[in-house]
Amino acid sequence: MIPATMKKFFLPILVLFLFIQCKNQPAIPTGLVVEKAMVVSAREEASKVGADIMANGGNAFDAMVGTQLALAVAYPRAGNIGGGGFMVYREADGAIGSLDFREKAPKSAHRDMYLDSLGSVIINMSTLGATSVGVPGSVAGILEVHKKFGKLPLAAIFEPVITMAENGVVVTAKQADMLAQYREVFTEVNSDSTKFGAVYKEGDIITYPKLAATLRTIVEKGKDGFYKGEIAQKLANFIQKNGGFVTEDDLASYDVVWRKPIAFNYKGLKIISMSPPSSGGVTMNQIFDMIAPFDIGTFGHNSEKTIQVFTEASRRAYADRNYYLGDPDFVDIPLDVLLKDSYLEDRMTDFSFDKATKSSDVSHGKVEIVESMETTHYSIVDEEGNAVSVTTTLNGNFGSKLYCDELGFFLNNEMDDFSSKAGVPNMFGLIGAEANNIQPEKRMLSSMTPTIVEKEGELWMVVGTPGGSTIITAVAQTILNAYEFDMSMQDAVNAPRFHHQWLPDIVTFEPEGFSTELKTSLKAKGYFINEERTPIIGKVDAIRVLADGSLEGGADKRGDDMAVGF
Ligand code: GLY
Repeated sequence: MIPATMKKFFLPILVLFLFIQCKNQPAIPTGLVVEKAMVVSAREEASKVGADIMANGGNAFDAMVGTQLALAVAYPRAGNIGGGGFMVYREADGAIGSLDFREKAPKSAHRDMYLDSLGSVIINMSTLGATSVGVPGSVAGILEVHKKFGKLPLAAIFEPVITMAENGVVVTAKQADMLAQYREVFTEVNSDSTKFGAVYKEGDIITYPKLAATLRTIVEKGKDGFYKGEIAQKLANFIQKNGGFVTEDDLASYDVVWRKPIAFNYKGLKIISMSPPSSGGVTMNQIFDMIAPFDIGTFGHNSEKTIQVFTEASRRAYADRNYYLGDPDFVDIPLDVLLKDSYLEDRMTDFSFDKATKSSDVSHGKVEIVESMETTHYSIVDEEGNAVSVTTTLNGNFGSKLYCDELGFFLNNEMDDFSSKAGVPNMFGLIGAEANNIQPEKRMLSSMTPTIVEKEGELWMVVGTPGGSTIITAVAQTILNAYEFDMSMQDAVNAPRFHHQWLPDIVTFEPEGFSTELKTSLKAKGYFINEERTPIIGKVDAIRVLADGSLEGGADKRGDDMAVGF
């Protein structure tokens, strides 16, 4: 028999010992595990195109080109050639980099282009139809990646996608719902005869012969095949005929930029993410630095204390995001200050577990949040160990809803990611400042956060998500789920998420996984929670490298997402 006094000491020590033991055990995978190479994307068809490219001798960069194009066919609400995006990569030897293929404002754009004579924002002008279209960057992006890193001939990468576009793709239940939801607006923006004015049911097959022809021209003529000549002429005419601003000259002038990614340490991890004009890397760096002094691993996953620390760090980071960040080619961003340890330590000095900080005490502003699931992310690892993390977007669902029937693709409404008027929220509820005002050929600020994580100097995770302003917090929580809370990749992706973005001063929770007691206790401390709004937050697609070098996929159960590999 153990004496009662010993029990008193022994039991807590045993519990702590078991907890530490358990935490040190690698999580048992619950997602697809493959030995060599994997793609995780929003559609099985697109993941398969990428995985097949690698099985046929291509590398992760070739697979990126194929997956990007396949998503334009299989997932047209966000997959695109009429939008833009960002890629973060880590080569097998550890070299890192990133590509900015974000859209640009047309040359005729100007700061007040979406304001009326009284200085008010004109409803829908930056969100719907041709007036909202920025100069697309995706085609230039994939061709640049192929030029720098590609192994297979471009034609071999394009061919399966062209075949897919010609043969068609099956409509999923989720896709049928989405198309039904937008059908009326497609005909309003385009015409009754537009392709997406038709009714598509689950199981129907949609073919894209016009897109297949556009892709053939690109493969034959390269970048000029899209940005100059016949396609550019048709595209510019089409946008202008519908009242938009993009000209042939804008298309001919478009180019991508290789940028140095944001890289920072969090405890035993090195996190590599996108630099401005994406706010993803900077904001995530700030959040991680502000939570690092807290041992959230012992607080527990989605516990009250973890939610408080994460929310308060997000509050402060988003306030900085909205004020300081914009296109670095146009504005000076004080990154040396924003990412400095002492600055971030200082930002958290007024944090207390006893009560919420008021967003109005952090800075100023007033907005309504409108979260959404647009944008799409895919993660790729190849057999050699090259990793590619890409988030790409049309901005809104199906972008501007403007569909170029002649060329076979949707056009973005990325101009809404600029701050049309300082202090007025965009469609994600984010308010912007001067740093993100509209200027000719400037790139609009983004929240896209394609990310790669190293652990002990080795590739550990490739991760990203759609979700507008919620992208940054969803990516950060997925990394924490795996690292601090020892979840498998699939469980880390599935786990319920919450979000806070400074303004509005509301913490948003997903429908499942957060108890009434937890919310009541947070409210008592002064957190504002709208219990009637419990949207889905993000749709994370990720890959984790396991101890034996095999790969575990995390394909978000919230969508049709799928991991495919070999
Ligand atoms: N269009 C969404 C983003 O770039 O964050």
